[in-house]
Amino acid sequence: MTGNSADVSFGGKTVELPTRSGTIGPDVIDIGTLYKNTGAFTYDPGFTSTASCESKITYIDGDEGVLLHRGYPIEQLAEHGDFLEVCYLLLYGELPTKTQKDDFDYRVTHHTMVHEQMSKFFTGFRRDAHPMAVMCGVVGALSAFYHDSTDITDPHQRMVASLRMIAKMPTIAAMAYKYHIGQPFVYPKNDLDYASNFLRMCFAVPCEEYTANPVLSRAMDRIFILHADHEQNASTSTVRLAGSSGANPFACIAAGIACLWGPAHGGANEAALNMLAEIGSVERIPEYVAKAKDKNDPFRLMGFGHRVYKNYDPRARIMQKTTHEVLGELGIKDDPMLEVAMELERIALTDEYFIEKKLYPNIDFYSGITLKALGFPTTMFTVLFALARTVGWIAQWNEMIEDPEQRIGRPRQLYIGAPKRDYTPVSKR
Ligand code: SDX
Repeated sequence: MTGNSADVSFGGKTVELPTRSGTIGPDVIDIGTLYKNTGAFTYDPGFTSTASCESKITYIDGDEGVLLHRGYPIEQLAEHGDFLEVCYLLLYGELPTKTQKDDFDYRVTHHTMVHEQMSKFFTGFRRDAHPMAVMCGVVGALSAFYHDSTDITDPHQRMVASLRMIAKMPTIAAMAYKYHIGQPFVYPKNDLDYASNFLRMCFAVPCEEYTANPVLSRAMDRIFILHADHEQNASTSTVRLAGSSGANPFACIAAGIACLWGPAHGGANEAALNMLAEIGSVERIPEYVAKAKDKNDPFRLMGFGHRVYKNYDPRARIMQKTTHEVLGELGIKDDPMLEVAMELERIALTDEYFIEKKLYPNIDFYSGITLKALGFPTTMFTVLFALARTVGWIAQWNEMIEDPEQRIGRPRQLYIGAPKRDYTPVSKR
């Protein structure tokens, strides 16, 4: 790369490609004219070296274990802020003043109810349906209930849809949980904060009063903060790609939920806890570590490794602290899974294989233990991840629509199939 350009030589020709520098982080080589000038595509399955957009929302330095939201370190936001403040920051780009925060909290709080007809929507699902399957269906159906906020060219409608998504996801997630366990839905209460409201909608029953434990509410709120946004991860890229066709915001978020469900992505918190349960005891850890190292064994240590973090996931460190706060508050001392988790982490951080592959515990490693202690079944773990990530998806979706450079996403391919050939009648095959 010389100066502000990079030379690419191919097929006897050399083309000069412009480069761009961001505020911090790697420069990019703009390859938009590469195919026109060389007749060749780039090839990057998994997009390990590909930037899909310019963004001001989140910055990650995987080598340094840094995560910034609009420039603010995740450690400071998790320590001093609350989730709705982080939502405001992600959506509008600045931390809110007291007046702005109060107004935003009021607007979100007063959008938490869902159309009453939606409660009938759940009855089409089996009670034992995975809550993530329910979330994909119900969130995708929101566009059937809220026609007045689907015109993506209208900034006001985009912001109404954004607020509705942030406000209604806890209500829908709690309804998915209540339907799953056969209990009646609990309506939101406007005098509760976001996390307390959610815990009450999940765990209150009509037969008795419910007051959320403030330590657990704070932990829930912090878990939401830690999962709010994470640059151009798989589900965010899915939302951006769906949005690039002009699809309505509810359909785009439903696409993000579907992608997040995968065990390599947001489904890892559920898979990590199931793995800890399968390992069962500290004595069996070496057997599973050997399986993880075995190239012929598809087993992976769920909750370990990350495409970007080749150092410790800063969220995992905060999550570990939150885990101990929650277990301490609940008086859970000898949690067998935590014992296995702590020993597995100790081994992974000292074992040559994991050090060489840079496989550190990621956020999903600890979140599963905490969510289980809070009373959620493993099937709800990725639902909670989706609830929190909705603000990140929505902020990135708005940024994409407002980006004059963005157009419908349509990657090309390297074709390795059959060359052109003529049809042969079945009698001749
Ligand atoms: C999330 O992108 C994001 O930002 C995602 C996320 C977010 O907030 O949006 O951070 C949330 O998805 C966190 C990741 C949760 N997933 C898991 O915990 C599942 C287990 N982890 C792996 O599946 C894997 O580490 C990925 C998917 C997370 C990353 O995969 P990469 O970057 O494609 O790395 P890779 O699969 O090419 O692995 C590199 C090497 C391989 O060995 P070699 O082929 O080079 O010999 O490391 C090995 C892998 O076999 N490896 C593991 C491993 N993860 C990678 N070996 C054992 N256990 C693991 N967990």
